[in-house]
Amino acid sequence: MVIFISQMSHFMVLTKVPKYKMNNGREIPAIALGTFLGFDEHGVTQSENKMLRDVVIQAIDLGYRHFDTAAVYNTEAELGEAVRITVAEQTVSRDEVFITTKLWNTRHRKGQVMKALEESLRQLGLDYVDLYLMHWPIGLNDDYTPTNTDYMETWRAMEDAVEAGYAKSIGLSNFNKQQLKRVIDEGNIKPAVLQIEIHPQLVQEELVQYAQSQGIVVMGFSPFGSMVTRFGVNYTGLRFNDPVLRQIAERHNKTTAQVVLRWFVERKIIPMPKTIRYSRLIENIDIFDFQLDEEEIEMISQFNRNVRFTAPTFWQNHPHYPFDKVDNPIEDPFTKI
Ligand SMILES: NC(=O)c1ccc[n+]([C@@H]2O[C@H](COP(=O)([O-])OP(=O)(O)OC[C@H]3O[C@@H](n4cnc5c(N)ncnc54)[C@H](OP(=O)(O)O)[C@@H]3O)[C@@H](O)[C@H]2O)c1
Repeated sequence: MVIFISQMSHFMVLTKVPKYKMNNGREIPAIALGTFLGFDEHGVTQSENKMLRDVVIQAIDLGYRHFDTAAVYNTEAELGEAVRITVAEQTVSRDEVFITTKLWNTRHRKGQVMKALEESLRQLGLDYVDLYLMHWPIGLNDDYTPTNTDYMETWRAMEDAVEAGYAKSIGLSNFNKQQLKRVIDEGNIKPAVLQIEIHPQLVQEELVQYAQSQGIVVMGFSPFGSMVTRFGVNYTGLRFNDPVLRQIAERHNKTTAQVVLRWFVERKIIPMPKTIRYSRLIENIDIFDFQLDEEEIEMISQFNRNVRFTAPTFWQNHPHYPFDKVDNPIEDPFTKI
């Protein structure tokens, strides 16, 4: 649903984003704005001159209610500042905004988890997060060598964070089916969310079906896959001007980016596009006033090539590495952080 509101001298479109119910009875908005700014020669790219804060304020004005960050992204502080500003201005109340952040791999030991979340809350300037995710099933030492910490130990400490009121819901990211099943079987709290890489070239049907059959909401990261330049790399593969996508887009009077994001919505998956541009913030949220039919959904799923853009093969000898190993692992950009 779209509501037109008058803001000073201009008209702005406020999209009312639908929500899904999670297995703990809480609600989660159906699209999230990604806040990872990528890598540069110094490691993780930093926001300059409060750029990210201002993007989030614009996004809230447009109707975005769900924001995805992580301790390792270095965007928690500006995201939290934007939330505090918009709450103070009464644009939104705190409980209308949904904040997801993630535990980094070097904080997996039982005694580290609560401290890591407290640090995230301090960065955000908030007293709780809506969703706390284990970023990877991979525990690492400070020097990025593998620890033998079992992710179940980490999960139990995350359960304590719910008990303490620091996280309203907890979930997993980058877990495979077997690892997810183990947490479901052995944990006290069932994960509310599974966040994994999904785009037309990585459909992940089996894992999505399994998670959803367990009442777990799926969030899909890197929704545009090879369609965008990622970390300075131009990938071969599906592009925004693909004729099949264009044909579907023209039929609905939408852009191909909107059609791809709607494909997530039809599968009840939360897409989490990242943009820092106002025109794209508008474009990416304007996906709740049309529907794809079964045939169109299938046409997009046919692009599947099981291609991953987030495959940290530099960790592939870790006992809990979730993906297939390769012959030539890439260099670890996180050690530059
Ligand atoms: N859990 C994990 O391990 C994990 C891993 C990766 C990502 N994530 C999360 O997922 C979010 C999104 O993933 P991502 O950044 O890898 O991929 P993405 O959202 O698929 O791609 C981002 C790129 O797309 C461009 N873009 C955005 N909207 C567009 C549009 N309508 N048309 C054309 N180009 C558009 C952006 O450029 P501009 O900014 O210049 O518009 C940016 O370069 C991240 O920010 C992060 O929050 C999580």
